Amino acid sequence: MSIRPFIISIIASALTAGTVVAADELVIRTDRPGAEVQPTMYGLFFEDINYAADGGLYAEKVKNRSFEFPNPLMGWESFGNVTVKTDGPFERNPHYVTLMPVGHRDKASGLTNEGYFGVSFSKGEGYRFSLWARPADGGKDSKIIVELIDPASEGETQVMARATVEIDKADWTRYTASLRPSETVEKGKLRIFLDSRTGCDLEHISLFPADTWRGHENGLRRDLAQKLADLKPGVFRFPGGCIVEGTDLPTRYQWKNSVGPVENRPLNENRWHYTFRHRFYPDYYQSYGLGFYEYFLLSEEIGAEPLPVLSVGLACQYQNNDESAHVPVDSLQPYIDDALDLIEFANGDTTTEWGALRAEMGHPEPFGLKFIAIGNEQWGPEYGVRLRPFIDAIRKAHPEIKIVGSSGPGPSGDKFDYLWPEMKSLKADLVDEHFYADENFFLNGATRYDSYDRKGPKVFAGEYACHGKGKKYNHFNAALMEAAFMTGLERNADIVHMATYAPLFAHVEGWQWRPDLIWFDNLRSVPTASYYVQQLYATNKGTRVLPLTLDGKAVTGAEGQNGLYASAVIDDTKGEYIVKVANTSDAPRDITLRFDRMKKGTSLGDGRAITLSSADPDADNVKGLTERVRPVETPLPAPESNTVNVTIPAKSFSIFKMEIKN
Ligand code: AHR
Repeated sequence: MSIRPFIISIIASALTAGTVVAADELVIRTDRPGAEVQPTMYGLFFEDINYAADGGLYAEKVKNRSFEFPNPLMGWESFGNVTVKTDGPFERNPHYVTLMPVGHRDKASGLTNEGYFGVSFSKGEGYRFSLWARPADGGKDSKIIVELIDPASEGETQVMARATVEIDKADWTRYTASLRPSETVEKGKLRIFLDSRTGCDLEHISLFPADTWRGHENGLRRDLAQKLADLKPGVFRFPGGCIVEGTDLPTRYQWKNSVGPVENRPLNENRWHYTFRHRFYPDYYQSYGLGFYEYFLLSEEIGAEPLPVLSVGLACQYQNNDESAHVPVDSLQPYIDDALDLIEFANGDTTTEWGALRAEMGHPEPFGLKFIAIGNEQWGPEYGVRLRPFIDAIRKAHPEIKIVGSSGPGPSGDKFDYLWPEMKSLKADLVDEHFYADENFFLNGATRYDSYDRKGPKVFAGEYACHGKGKKYNHFNAALMEAAFMTGLERNADIVHMATYAPLFAHVEGWQWRPDLIWFDNLRSVPTASYYVQQLYATNKGTRVLPLTLDGKAVTGAEGQNGLYASAVIDDTKGEYIVKVANTSDAPRDITLRFDRMKKGTSLGDGRAITLSSADPDADNVKGLTERVRPVETPLPAPESNTVNVTIPAKSFSIFKMEIKN
């Protein structure tokens, strides 16, 4: 965020009792700190939709690296003498290819890989190529050439990097090579061809940037992971979403397949490859290269509590209405074991089976798992009857783990009304609510949680986003609606313990669902206006809620409040008051912030205003991946009294942070 002059005018004033107040006066009761704001309050929800994992956050550039897609050469183009075989070294990924000479010096056998919307590479950056190989037919040493090419260029000029790999061990062996391209190419290809008179067998052909997030070998795209870290999330929910359920039970996400050596993690189809016929991606599969170990590690590295979601034994209920598509209640034990084993994988001692695997993968210390969700968007009695045995088993073995249940796919209606009492009676710790809704829902929703029963489970607003009317996506106005709504989450922090926008990522060429929080292509990425709203909340969540009123009432956009929404917190550790104000009206507004009844001996110090606004409510950052909307920060001089006068722009979201001086 940059510090530069902005249209907010700050007049530190000394308004005294009796002064006629023309501005809207927001009164913050500093002497009445209320609910604690949970560290998990604002977080992230990750699902492999829109090429978020393979082709996105997971930095692997080779598509179908193990030749396991139903068409084993999907993503590859072969030339010369290339055959696919199925008795490879990795039990769960048995396919590999054999390159044999074609018998003429000027002919070649080889393959090119098209990557995900191209194999991209940047000038001067290092890339790690690796593969498993052996000489073919038990024959002599063999040799291959590996190149990064720009197919748009002709002849020799199309080769941007080249390396040679000598295959000189009789058995399957992992070989590596470094590549440093001479040019940046977004839609390049990886080319491999035989350069010897003897053939070779090739498997698990992989290409990663050397510069991954935190330098991990099986790593993540640094720019994308950094954006997650920069949001300072308190919780990280994974791996979905609907992919937890799959299209049917065999295609559900199975975490045990996503751990251990990457070469032996079996492929799973991605349910989003054909869910929407108008966005059809038949090459969308899950390599599981970004698996549960990597999710836990990422959670730790971005400072978020991991929140894994597991199958409850129901196939996606949208796509499978028939009871026979689900696991019978008396056959759930393997699914329950998956949940118990996952807790062991995350937290267990290294002498346990799953704790030992975690240690072997590089993390002997426990990941400190505290939450687990069972089921995604489930509904009906078929959900409760399956959830119950999971809860019983987890409570018995791990009373310390908090369990998240579902309230179905929408924020109201029959399914929702049935499930909340059900979750209460099952004593779920948190209930996951999903709402993809229009502007009105968000404008009216700031009071949604005011009347929730305080004695039942806590709320996890697990998937939400304002879906603007008129087919606008990720435009500023939607983000403003979300900001206004979120004042209601904050005011109700006693019951709302977690909230995560959804979905998180989208590839500009491969999306199935929008809006999304972060958009990217193969070389660039951009935060949306909604991202900035989430970030502003997460980085200014404070520690306790302070009552804030306008004319004695909470500021929820109610009649007479001129489209204003506001909430306040104190950050006890940093020693500051933080006020959030969304102005959804078309007019700028004069606002007085009155920090009422401050402790004797304290006063307001210097402050800052951070404002997200746009003259054009339709402005978005997705077009051309260009930041048109971003927060602007302005210093607020210490006032002489306990009031701060500001003018906030029309259609804006602002945060005011004031130091508490002793
Ligand atoms: O976020 C996209 C999808 O929306 C999720 O997979 C699912 O839970 C919801 O229907």
